Amino acid sequence: MIKIENLTKTFGAFKAVDNLSLDIAAGEIFGFLGPNGAGKTTTVKILSGIMKPASGRVLVGGYDIVESPLEAKKILAYIPDEPFVYPKLTGFEFLRFIGDLYCVPYGEQAARIPQLLDIFELSAAGGELLEAYSHGMKQKLLIAGVLLRKPKALLFDEPTVGLDPKSIKRFKNLLLNIAKNGAAVFMCTHILDMAEKLCTSVGIIYRGSLIAKGTVAEIKNMAPGGPGRSLEEIFLELTE
Ligand SMILES: Nc1ncnc2c1ncn2[C@@H]1O[C@H](COP(=O)(O)OP(=O)(O)O)[C@@H](O)[C@H]1O
Ligand SMILES: [Mg+2]
Repeated sequence: MIKIENLTKTFGAFKAVDNLSLDIAAGEIFGFLGPNGAGKTTTVKILSGIMKPASGRVLVGGYDIVESPLEAKKILAYIPDEPFVYPKLTGFEFLRFIGDLYCVPYGEQAARIPQLLDIFELSAAGGELLEAYSHGMKQKLLIAGVLLRKPKALLFDEPTVGLDPKSIKRFKNLLLNIAKNGAAVFMCTHILDMAEKLCTSVGIIYRGSLIAKGTVAEIKNMAPGGPGRSLEEIFLELTE
């Protein structure tokens, strides 16, 4: 569903992403791990079509994100690390806007928007302007907007930053459901515990290069010291 082929991104002489190739199938939750500045956000911005690669290509459901951006973006959702919402819309209006933009039939919007607001405990704030929302509330609203659309490929950049523990738990369950229903999830995260529990496979990026890839069990097996160690220990050692 998400195919990354020999992706490279340079800023001047600096290589932020160096010859990255990855395949994320429908139903998979892929965890993209790496320390600050490793190239995670740059990668996900290229996957979303916001940034152009220097070389290589990205296919979403078979569509090249640079050559066929509309087809690719119809089935793709991107939740950035800094949630952007229109400050002068209410929560309800924002979801209507997303629904209209992505051609969700009106009857379905009318039925599902109140449910989604309820799931994220935003019903009471649904009539408030988004400029009054906290970071976590904006993040939850964006996730609700994504669920309204039912995309086939989802990109998350540090999705749980700013969420309270209850919302994080709910988010994890939603993610498992999304994948179970056949979507591919690409998630950048710092939270190794979440990656270990949730992701079907993970990749570790360090200074722009993919230095490990596989299931958490595979990465543990190949690391010196054997499978008894936590993903955190192995991550810290690999990115020393
Ligand atoms: N627009 C830009 N111009 C120049 N350098 C950038 C730009 N965006 C990111 N970088 C650099 O690329 C590297 C990777 O950044 P980023 O992808 O944001 O890392 P991560 O999300 O893994 O923390 C960093 O060294 C960062 O400073
Ligand atoms: Mg980042």
